[in-house]
Amino acid sequence: MISTSDRAGNSPSNLRFIQTERPLVDETLEVLASLSEELPRLSPKYFYDSRGSELFEEITVLPEYYLTRSEAEIFDRHLDDIAQALGSGDIIIEPGSGNCSKVRPLLKRAAPSAYIPIDIAGEFLWAAAANTALEHPNLGVTAIAADFTQRWTFLEEIPKGRRIVFYPGSTLGNFDPSAQQDFIRQLAQVVGTQGGILLGVDLHKDSATLQRAYDDAAGVTAAFNRNMLAVVNARTGANFEPKEWRHQARYNSEMRRIEMELVAQSMQTVTIGGQTLKFSEGAIIRTEHSHKFTMASIQDLAAAAAMTVTHHWLDSNARFCLALLQNA
Ligand code: SAH
Ligand code: AVI
Repeated sequence: MISTSDRAGNSPSNLRFIQTERPLVDETLEVLASLSEELPRLSPKYFYDSRGSELFEEITVLPEYYLTRSEAEIFDRHLDDIAQALGSGDIIIEPGSGNCSKVRPLLKRAAPSAYIPIDIAGEFLWAAAANTALEHPNLGVTAIAADFTQRWTFLEEIPKGRRIVFYPGSTLGNFDPSAQQDFIRQLAQVVGTQGGILLGVDLHKDSATLQRAYDDAAGVTAAFNRNMLAVVNARTGANFEPKEWRHQARYNSEMRRIEMELVAQSMQTVTIGGQTLKFSEGAIIRTEHSHKFTMASIQDLAAAAAMTVTHHWLDSNARFCLALLQNA
């Protein structure tokens, strides 16, 4: 478990921490606009303060949440092959790096020249990046606290060299399909013609397995979902009462996505930025889509960015896919 310690403490000499300006958008207006849509929704980026990041870390070890274990198994089984496909000495850039644990096998085996974790949860990122820098004293770590959906104003901070974007955990699935394409295109520009994107995505499967993964018996995902309202309160001065909202998650097999929602348990009156919103009992706020992929949809994504899937690896149950996208 990462503990978020005081940044003024002992910062490893091989760690550079860059806090970009946030917000680049007015989050109060953004939240008001998305809550005023026909189906009120909130962006999944609001899951992640330090508490949300800790809850996500708990989710990754739940018996029902197979995603993280399946991806780890791919690295266990195919690490030599993956490292060979990547080559060595590259710069690894990881958007949504969380606790920086996914990259560990790559740092050991692919020996990159630099590691650039990027995450919106700044304190959590600092602690995770500091641990990584301590574990790898010869590796330059540049941690960038930023919203990766906004313009990447920090590109000049990334050292020169061949770039690999490592985007694991199926975080891409939290974008809707057209935004997935836009993001992969943006990553393709970041890595240029010589680089690559190592993408981990969850595969479409039976609804029961998927629904269990997003509605665990211990209620950790429910706590993660409700924590979003506490984050929105902190960032916009709203007065949501998280305990008055119930967690709900369903697999929409037609859209191939988990739809995660919060349901008002009684009439709720919420003030945000001087405006009052009323939610009747049973009102729903959509908090997350978690899209699931097929080999064909991964190939289509690559093609949309003028790239091809040059390699891919699956876990033994074919639940999860790690794909390497390179220039076509
Ligand atoms: N890659 C890790 C963590 C996945 S959780 C893993 O696979 O286990 C998603 C991560 O993306 C979180 O750490 C969250 O803080 C980060 N994140 C979500 N939205 C973001 C955004 N808009 N900008 C930057 N980071 C974001
Ligand atoms: C970060 N992201 C890929 C997770 C997912 O599976 O969509 C977030 C999550 N939501 C509920 N459980 C985990």
